[in-house]
Amino acid sequence: MTIERSLAAEGVTLGYGDRTIVDSLDLRVPAGRVTAIVGANACGKSTLLKAMARLLTPSSGQVLLDGKAIHRLPTKQVARVLGLLPQSPIAPDGIAVSDLVSRGRHPHQGALSRWTSADDAAVARALEATDVTHLADRPVDELSGGQRQRVWIAMALAQETDVLLLDEPTTFLDISHQIDVLDLLTDLNRERGTTVAMVLHDLNLAARYADHLVAMAQGQVIAAGDPGDVLTEDTVRRVFGLDSRVVPDPLTGRPMVIPIGRHHTVAEPEQAQTVSHR
Ligand SMILES: Nc1ncnc2c1ncn2[C@@H]1O[C@H](COP(=O)(O)OP(=O)(O)OP(=O)(O)O)[C@@H](O)[C@H]1O
Ligand SMILES: [Mg+2]
Repeated sequence: MTIERSLAAEGVTLGYGDRTIVDSLDLRVPAGRVTAIVGANACGKSTLLKAMARLLTPSSGQVLLDGKAIHRLPTKQVARVLGLLPQSPIAPDGIAVSDLVSRGRHPHQGALSRWTSADDAAVARALEATDVTHLADRPVDELSGGQRQRVWIAMALAQETDVLLLDEPTTFLDISHQIDVLDLLTDLNRERGTTVAMVLHDLNLAARYADHLVAMAQGQVIAAGDPGDVLTEDTVRRVFGLDSRVVPDPLTGRPMVIPIGRHHTVAEPEQAQTVSHR
């Protein structure tokens, strides 16, 4: 069982050089829940996630892990508690899958402690959970985009942290593997209390899997809370500048966004029915 950990940003300002990307942003990642962050390209999602993982220092404000300023905690201590899957991770040239996933165990190795059977077991579990056991001996740079993405997820899982931050974990994955990964994160959350926060571009999957949904635009949080309250036609317009219909997902009742676009008009209800039954 993991410890349910909370993570929060308080008034954080983030940027690169003298360019500000995120300005005085407040964000709450509730302990033991699944949070999804959605927003348009370049609005600052990855920048925010990097700061939450202590890889980027805010120019003002702070990130709190269990109420303590994360930038004052030792790196290794943070790495044992919090794992990050970055948006575009880079593997060392020629590294084999099992070696890369094993690197997820580094935070658990002390200066003197050796690799143990517990480390082997954690790596094997992570490979199995992400359906890449059969690729264990292959070089990472020879894999398909989706296989590689699953290997990176395996590395993050092998770290066995109480908090898992994932930047677009479902990118490159076919629909079945997208669902596998999101189901897997839900299992971790429900069975071990892992606090999960992830950036997703698929609004419908975000609404389905998140307990807490955060919509960002231009470095600000526009709306946050229950997906049913956050994911409205108005939010989609404000965040993406896109007209849409939001209807209940027939399976779960969660919001489902149907984009409109320039080439499709809204059909009369009878017409839409006819089409759907053809
Ligand atoms: N290392 C960097 N140096 C300078 N500018 C950067 C750097 N990383 C990101 N930016 C800029 O910061 C802004 C926000 O980028 P960020 O990666 O946080 O966006 P995002 O919301 O994750 O977008 P996407 O959906 O495309 O991944 C962009 O304008 C980007 O060009
Ligand atoms: Mg990004």
